[in-house]
Amino acid sequence: MTFHSMWAELLPIGRNSASGGYRRYAWSGADADCRAWFRQQAEDRGLVHEVDRNGNQWAWLGDPAAGDAVVTGSHLDSVPDGGAFDGPLGVVSSFAALDELRGRGVRFTRPLALVNFGDEEGARFGLACVGSRLTAGQLSVEQAHRLTDGDGISLPQAMEAAGYDPEGIGADPERLARIGAFVELHVEQGRALDLSGDRVGIASAIWPHGRWRFDFRGEANHAGTTRLADRRDPMLSYAETVLAARREAELAGAVATFGKIAVEPNGVNAIPSLVRGWLDSRAADQDTLDTVVGGVEKAAREYAHAHGIDLDVVRESFTPVVEFDHALRDELARILGKDTELKVPVLGTGAGHDAGILSGSIPTAMLFVRNPTGVSHSPAEYAAEDDCVAGVRALADVLEGLACR
Ligand code: GLV
Ligand code: MN
Ligand code: MN
Repeated sequence: MTFHSMWAELLPIGRNSASGGYRRYAWSGADADCRAWFRQQAEDRGLVHEVDRNGNQWAWLGDPAAGDAVVTGSHLDSVPDGGAFDGPLGVVSSFAALDELRGRGVRFTRPLALVNFGDEEGARFGLACVGSRLTAGQLSVEQAHRLTDGDGISLPQAMEAAGYDPEGIGADPERLARIGAFVELHVEQGRALDLSGDRVGIASAIWPHGRWRFDFRGEANHAGTTRLADRRDPMLSYAETVLAARREAELAGAVATFGKIAVEPNGVNAIPSLVRGWLDSRAADQDTLDTVVGGVEKAAREYAHAHGIDLDVVRESFTPVVEFDHALRDELARILGKDTELKVPVLGTGAGHDAGILSGSIPTAMLFVRNPTGVSHSPAEYAAEDDCVAGVRALADVLEGLACR
């Protein structure tokens, strides 16, 4: 099956016809369809398919128990109304790269596995990279049990409803001990490759990033009869805090976004009793990130105080800076540099990835494929087919260099 036909098969799954975006949330029907697709691709190639205890899917060529495996893959879930490429490009490219290597007639000297990590985006339960975090022991079983979606369904309940046993979730060091290297190919979520005129790049580092929940509590009341002076309206402090986040991020050369909000009672003619906003913030280093988030929180407390609003701020998740394994990164550059046609710039990114989570346990690396607009987490996300094919070739070269004779 070609890259093109695999891509075409996945394309309709979980696509919302009104927005044109993808809604492939963890353990949903669309997620099940993506998983069935992955399984079918594995079986069609004679790979051994397995789902680990954290719900991640693996397709093995060679004996997993032999150790020192080379693993490649990404994720198939999406953010709300996400694009087609973030995640799926890495998974489809993994199968296409294996096909390319078989076409080259190489002999594998190390086991190879292709992987689809579960719930990378955290769209449903609020925490990103749940599958890889659990596996790497960066999310405890107790914390995972406390995760709930917008309808109050817990992660274990959702897994169970999707036909998976949540009993065994948790750290999986034996599995990680069998892996010698993980390489994730991903659409670039910026324009560095477009600006440099390169099809493919190698990742250097991921900015530290996290999510913070701000709960502004006031008093529900009638929108028509309550004098402005008598209101305790949490929307005002929230709105001021959004502006403060922008200001703090600009001052620090970082980014800060309130992209999700929940309002109670959420009536057009009612002053809200609660405004809950989620801050996503990222910066090149930890001190800068602390300064930004500290500044936003301080401003929020001042605004809340001025309006008689109660404020709770909870850090819901955090991922420290990731510096990808230098030896593996240099090895990728050496392998790809052999082809003089392909220059491979080394780029940092503000986006989180399973490769970043696993980098605490095993050597990991990432390849980026050019995205001409840099748009991501939106239906407008795009990579040209020629560039995707160049990405597949680069991934095949890397896997050949690492796992073949
Ligand atoms: C995932 O894509 C993230 O960076 O939030
Ligand atoms: Mn993403
Ligand atoms: Mn991704």
